[in-house]
Amino acid sequence: MMQIKDKVAIVTGAASGIGRAVALELARRGARGIAMVDLSEQADVAAAQVNNEVDQNVAAAFRGDVTEASFRGHVYDEMSRNFGIVQICVPAAGVTLDALAVKVNKETAKADIYPVEHFRHVLEINLIAPVYWAMEMVARIAEDRARRGLNRWRADENVQGTVIFIGSVSSQGNKGQIAYASTKSGLEGAAATLTKESIFHGVRCGVIHPGFTNTPMVRALGEDYIDRNILPATQLGRLIYPEEIADAICFMISNSAISGTLWADAGWHPLPA
Ligand SMILES: NC(=O)c1ccc[n+]([C@@H]2O[C@H](COP(=O)([O-])OP(=O)(O)OC[C@H]3O[C@@H](n4cnc5c(N)ncnc54)[C@H](O)[C@@H]3O)[C@@H](O)[C@H]2O)c1
Repeated sequence: MMQIKDKVAIVTGAASGIGRAVALELARRGARGIAMVDLSEQADVAAAQVNNEVDQNVAAAFRGDVTEASFRGHVYDEMSRNFGIVQICVPAAGVTLDALAVKVNKETAKADIYPVEHFRHVLEINLIAPVYWAMEMVARIAEDRARRGLNRWRADENVQGTVIFIGSVSSQGNKGQIAYASTKSGLEGAAATLTKESIFHGVRCGVIHPGFTNTPMVRALGEDYIDRNILPATQLGRLIYPEEIADAICFMISNSAISGTLWADAGWHPLPA
C-alpha cells in the first residue's frame, strides 16, 4: 500500500475537470500538500475551494505552462521546500485539436492533411510534458535516496512514489483525433518503460484510460454531438463524473498491487462509421 495520507502531490491541469477532481480527492484522503498546476487563473479559485473543503492549507496554485522546463523545476522546488519530497504525480493537463487526418476539399478535389504544427502542439502538452513531469519526480526521489546512501529499492521499504498518466479511450483510435490518439497511446509506451526503470528507486507508474467524462473538454463538443454520438456508444448511458475518475486514480495510487492500465470508460465502443 502507498497511503495518500501525508503525501505530497503534484497535479497538472488542476484548474478544471479531471485534474481538479483528483486534487480535491487527494485532499480528502489526507494529502499533506498538493500543487494545483494550470495555465488558467481558475487554478487559484480551485485551490481555494480545496482548502476550504478540507479546512486546511494543503493546496497551492501554480500558474504556468506545463511544457516549460523552468516552470516545472520551480513547482517541484517550491513543493519540496514547503511540504517535503513529492511522491505523487498526476500530470492531467491535456488538450484536443481535432480534425480528420486527411480531408478532401470537394471544390478543389485536393486533400488537406492534418497540420503538423497542430500535431506538435498536442504532442508537447499531452505526451512530452506528462512524461517530463513524471521523470522530474523520479529524479528527485532518486537524488534524495542517493543522498541518504540508499541504492536499489527493496520490497521491505515503502513504495517511494506513484505516477498515474491520463490516457483516453481514444488511444485505441477515434475519428478526428489523429494527434490526440497518438499522444494518449504514446503514454502507454512511456509508462511501461518508466515503470521498469523507476521501480529501481521505488516508483510505480500506471495509466488510466477514461471514457467521455463530464468536463469542459467534452462539453465543448456540444450537447447535440454528445447526445447523438457519445451517449449511444456508452453502455452506462451517461457521461462519467470527474469524481469517478478521481476515485479510480486514488485507488491506483494507494493500491500498490495495481500495475499497468485501468480502463474507466463506462463501456464505450466507437459507433460504426
Ligand atoms: N473529459 C474526458 O472525457 C477525458 C477522457 C479521457 C481523457 N481525458 C484527459 O483527462 C485530462 C483532463 O481533461 P479534462 O477533461 O479535465 O479537460 P479540461 O479541459 O477540463 O482541463 C484541462 C486543463 O488543462 C489545462 N491545460 C491545458 N494546457 C495546459 C498547459 N500547456 N499548461 C498548463 N495547463 C494546461 C487547461 O487550462 C485546463 O484547466 C486530459 O489529459 C484529457 O486528455 C479526458
